[in-house]
Amino acid sequence: MAMPNASVLFTPLISNKFICYSSLQSSNHHSSPMPRFVSNGCKLVGCGSAVPKLQISNDDLAKIVDTNDEWISSRTGIRNRRVLSGNENLTTLAVEAARKALEMAKVDPDDIDLILMCTSTPDDLFGNGPKIQKELGINKSVLAYDITAACSGFILGLISAASHIRGSGFRNVLVIGADAISRFVDWTDRGSCILFGDGAGAVLVQACNPEEDGLFSFDLHSDGDGIRHLNATLKESEAGNAFDPNGSLLDFPPRRSAYSCIQMNGKEVFRFAIRKVPQSIESALSKAGLSVSSIDWLLLHQANERIIDGVANRLEVASEKVIKNLENYGNTSAASIPMALDEGVRSGKIKKGQTIASAGFGAGLTWGSAIFRWS
Ligand code: ACO
Repeated sequence: MAMPNASVLFTPLISNKFICYSSLQSSNHHSSPMPRFVSNGCKLVGCGSAVPKLQISNDDLAKIVDTNDEWISSRTGIRNRRVLSGNENLTTLAVEAARKALEMAKVDPDDIDLILMCTSTPDDLFGNGPKIQKELGINKSVLAYDITAACSGFILGLISAASHIRGSGFRNVLVIGADAISRFVDWTDRGSCILFGDGAGAVLVQACNPEEDGLFSFDLHSDGDGIRHLNATLKESEAGNAFDPNGSLLDFPPRRSAYSCIQMNGKEVFRFAIRKVPQSIESALSKAGLSVSSIDWLLLHQANERIIDGVANRLEVASEKVIKNLENYGNTSAASIPMALDEGVRSGKIKKGQTIASAGFGAGLTWGSAIFRWS
């Protein structure tokens, strides 16, 4: 097979680094490794975000649980959060964020061929992605589905988008991170209700020439044992014996299921994040052949300011390079990374061509990093 002159080729999914075989020429291709697959590159070309109208301050929370602004802001860095109210729902937020991302990317909704809706709190248990496809007015046949991985959802969505583009020929993939965690917060638990807010962020990931590829590497993990530290599981069945003394079936039809509120061991989640996130970012950087000093921005899931600062310190990233916006929004789960990215881009802080090290972490437990270039 004749190789194009001076091209840059990528093999997707051979490992979690997108391997680049550069400058293969027809005259020397016998001595070069043969890529298994010749694919597109991908790049992030638009972003957008949306939040509910209702703002809840720390003082507002102090009216419903025994807490105060000083405790919350010094332990978490959070002062306000937004919460869905009235006619708002997750779909309306996600669609608003998506429209802004499409506008920035100058891509028509009908040119999207895949929507990845990263959420753990969908409006419909069967999936929110197709509803977003409808609300965006996309009439042609596209694929839309949900990815459930709590606060790691957006990073998983981004990597999935890249894999679809590199491996399956998709051209325009809309990755939405959106969560309405307020629906599952126990508003009587001061240890957790202070942390969360609702929101949506979106990114348009587009196929490009391999030379322009903007997603350099990733590193993803999960640990099901850690589910005991952070979960919102199905409520345990209150059913007793399945049969009455006469042998008749008692438990049919089954009762309607319901989910419990978020159960969290804050200290364990804190320790997990501080330990695993720096390792994951270092691993992704090493796969990309980059060092910490070569990144322009550290963009972490906005869970707690002390976690963000702790990870930055361990990686020795200067505070000027750390993106934070949790003061105004709290922990918005899958939405937090694209929301903070959008704010950074629209404020002019994050510039075209800059390299971002990003990491998500949370329930599952799941965690992971991606190293990418903006636009
Ligand atoms: N206001 C006032 N006092 C409080 C509050 C509050 N809101 N919450 C707890 N306290 C009290 C406790 O009762 C305790 O009092 P005591 O010493 O008399 O027993 C004291 O403050 C210390 O409580 P801790 O729980 O030890 O506080 P800590 O410093 O660990 O902070 C926090 C708690 C903020 C939750 C922290 O552990 C944290 O941020 N952990 C990470 C959580 C996280 O990021 N979760 C989301 C993951 S993402 C996802 O997937 C959904």
